[in-house]
Amino acid sequence: MFTVAIDGPAAAGKGTLSKRVAAHFGFAHLDTGLIYRATGARVLGGEDPVAAARTLRVEDLARDDLRTTEVAQAASKCAAIPEVRAALVEFQCSFARREEGAVLDGRDIGTVICPEAEVKLFVTASDEIRAERRYLELSGKGQDVTRQGVLEDLRVRDQRDREREAAPLKPAEDAVLIDTSEMDIEAAVAVAIKAVAAVFEG
Ligand code: DC
Repeated sequence: MFTVAIDGPAAAGKGTLSKRVAAHFGFAHLDTGLIYRATGARVLGGEDPVAAARTLRVEDLARDDLRTTEVAQAASKCAAIPEVRAALVEFQCSFARREEGAVLDGRDIGTVICPEAEVKLFVTASDEIRAERRYLELSGKGQDVTRQGVLEDLRVRDQRDREREAAPLKPAEDAVLIDTSEMDIEAAVAVAIKAVAAVFEG
């Protein structure tokens, strides 16, 4: 059992880093944002947030509408409700205990979900760079977005995610900070793999 916790604000590159680290070491990967997005999507469909979180199914994570800014905002709002977070803890913790090793990425993995994780990374980049990357990603998928709209979405979510009482976004005290503002993907992946290898390979 070996757990890597990767946290950081929206669109900092956690998803790409997590997938690449997991593939490199043969670990399983869980994007925990997806479970909050799936909850948010069901709330947009009219359900109560706590009831939605308590009855979340694996197939909810496969919905094809989870990567929109509307769902992201709904996810961030649901994520501020302590009962929603509580309902989603067990799923995340059991994933983290997988025998083959696990990478979880989110906002509170190193601080709340896996405080005992062997490696904790906190990934950041400037607001403008994160917004540009997310803009290119969403517009590339054909979504009708503007640079300004994406920047505002990230700022509003980050502020809500940082300032909430329940499991706010913040680096764990023992997290390795990785600022990807000046790095391309390959450089950031190399830094992350090196940080994990230093512990995993002793
Ligand atoms: O990582 P993401 O952008 O897909 O996450 C969507 C929202 O879900 C994010 O704004 C806050 C919430 N979230 C959370 O509170 N805790 C996590 N571990 C992951 C996501």
